[in-house]
Amino acid sequence: MGSDTCFIKQCKEKIIIKKIDRIKMEKKKKNLKNVIIIDHPLIKRDLTFLRDKKTPSFQFRAILRRVAGLMAYEITKDLKTNEFIIESPLEKTKGYTLAEKVILAPILRAGLGLVGGFVEYLPEARVGHIGLYRDEETLKPVDYYFKFPKNIKDAIVLILDPMLATGGSAAAAVTFLKQHGAKSIRFASLVAAPEGVRTLTEMHPDVKIYVASLDRGLNKKGYILPGLGDAGDRIFGTAE
Ligand code: PRP
Ligand code: URA
Repeated sequence: MGSDTCFIKQCKEKIIIKKIDRIKMEKKKKNLKNVIIIDHPLIKRDLTFLRDKKTPSFQFRAILRRVAGLMAYEITKDLKTNEFIIESPLEKTKGYTLAEKVILAPILRAGLGLVGGFVEYLPEARVGHIGLYRDEETLKPVDYYFKFPKNIKDAIVLILDPMLATGGSAAAAVTFLKQHGAKSIRFASLVAAPEGVRTLTEMHPDVKIYVASLDRGLNKKGYILPGLGDAGDRIFGTAE
């Protein structure tokens, strides 16, 4: 093969590789398009305490609750309001109520650790519970409980779970909720792996995913890296 032909072949290969990289990048962007990373100094600081393996359960719980409150503030900033007239001690003025009903949906067990922080800002919210655990061998979700308020189709359902790892539990929770009529679903988690975001987005492209951090990936056992370990065990002290 002459040097000219060789040069043309190399150029063609480079163009193909660039094209593949572009397609991969577009696919990656598409799969991450539903993620909203809540980038806030107070959350970053608190997440540091939660990641630290020396943080004991009682502090872990309190900090998780505080971060949940900060996340609730961000996740609800586009909720609609209804106006009405109230009277201040001096004159009439406009007041507001939330126009949309919110149902909080913690995934048991670890999602319970986020409920306190959310209800502090959403005292009118109702709470449904989704019982799911991840089988340690298969990493597939196993369901054991589902209890929800009525009329979930009219509400914004906010699924709470500090960890989005393979995405199996999150995707199963959304499927359950849709089967029960939910039309508007958001997912809130503290730490997510790109694998989980991809799975959830592929299965449920209509669900917005709010996270405090998008971590590097998963280890062989399906734990998020760097992550914060087993969230349920750290909240409830069940590893001790
Ligand atoms: C954890 C976590 C999520 C799930 C995430 O729960 O709270 O629900 O794992 O993993 P996935 O994205 O790979 O499905 P776990 O199964 O440990 O149950 P627990 O909270 O009852 O301990
Ligand atoms: N569940 C957890 O609690 N932690 C992980 O890192 C992954 C799944």
